Amino acid sequence: MQSDMRTLEWDEKEGELRLIDQRLLPGRFEIVTCASVTDVIEAIRNMTVRGAPAIGVAAAYGMALAARQLSFLDVSTMRAELYQMADKLQAARPTAVNLSWAIQRAREAIDQPVSSTEELREKLLSLAHAMAEEDVQVNLRLAQYGASLIEDGDTILHHCNTGALATVDWGTALGAIRMAHEQGKRVHVLVDETRPRLQGARLTAWELQQYGIPFEIISDGAAGYFLRSGQVQKVFFGADRVAANGDVANKIGTYMLALAAHINDVPVYSVFPTSSVDLSLQNGDLIPIEERDEEEVLGIQVQGQPATPAGARARNPAFDVTPHTLITALVTEKGIVYPPFRQHLPEVLQR
Ligand code: MRU
Repeated sequence: MQSDMRTLEWDEKEGELRLIDQRLLPGRFEIVTCASVTDVIEAIRNMTVRGAPAIGVAAAYGMALAARQLSFLDVSTMRAELYQMADKLQAARPTAVNLSWAIQRAREAIDQPVSSTEELREKLLSLAHAMAEEDVQVNLRLAQYGASLIEDGDTILHHCNTGALATVDWGTALGAIRMAHEQGKRVHVLVDETRPRLQGARLTAWELQQYGIPFEIISDGAAGYFLRSGQVQKVFFGADRVAANGDVANKIGTYMLALAAHINDVPVYSVFPTSSVDLSLQNGDLIPIEERDEEEVLGIQVQGQPATPAGARARNPAFDVTPHTLITALVTEKGIVYPPFRQHLPEVLQR
């Protein structure tokens, strides 16, 4: 990506987390620095950093920052304070399970025996570094699997942003498309705008431009037209949480897209790291769905004017659940999972 900067990076000299500000792209490339866990919580909430895997690793650095702030305490008081911070971080956004997964790993590190607060502090920072590196390696592996499903000449419809920006680097569904492109396959991407925050039109289009992958942006409502008219060979998207039966929570609009693809016999692939799987939930109806501020819908402007009448109200669920019956295969770093997912998903997770 631009300046070769990863989505999030640790600044060793300053002891701060640096984030690409995803609210401003593609118009402005700016960096936000987080010097405290509170800064990280706010950056996750306001979507400076977004995308399930990126949120998880940002939270891990949030825990490292919390430990730095608390280093004047004794070990047991520090542990108690860190648990509280962990709860606050976990509540920042409810749907992406990668956040709870990362916090759980931090909790396990906090519980390990240490002889000083300094040791605990270092443990949490090392964990965050390890998770950042792991994320990139996992993405490269799942992208290889995803790319194997893509054929030369495919037009792929993609929803939201699942690229380098949604992860530490490389990406999931978009990472698979990028991998196929780098393998020399000719791919064309139809980029869903992804209303209301336009992660597709703003971020995916920005990334594809940099990778030199041909694409066109379409309004979300145009997806059905392209699928029915035979202009799309595959649908690719990511996941924020995958239930035990293979139901997938992902960016709002994914369900309608999968429905339209299914009825038109276009294969549907959800690409994600196994850290997005939540086997504790039997089905997708149990996944908590974040509802964001109505201003994200009402604030849209047309020709410099508000697009909606003053006083109008809006609903703004940020995610929806795509039932497993609409999904052709789930793609993870441990392999491609085909139905029945309830049987095959746990088998693949154990690899
Ligand atoms: O609200 P966002 O932008 O954080 O939502 C992101 C998505 O829904 C992505 O598709 C998902 O996190 C997978 S990203 C690899």
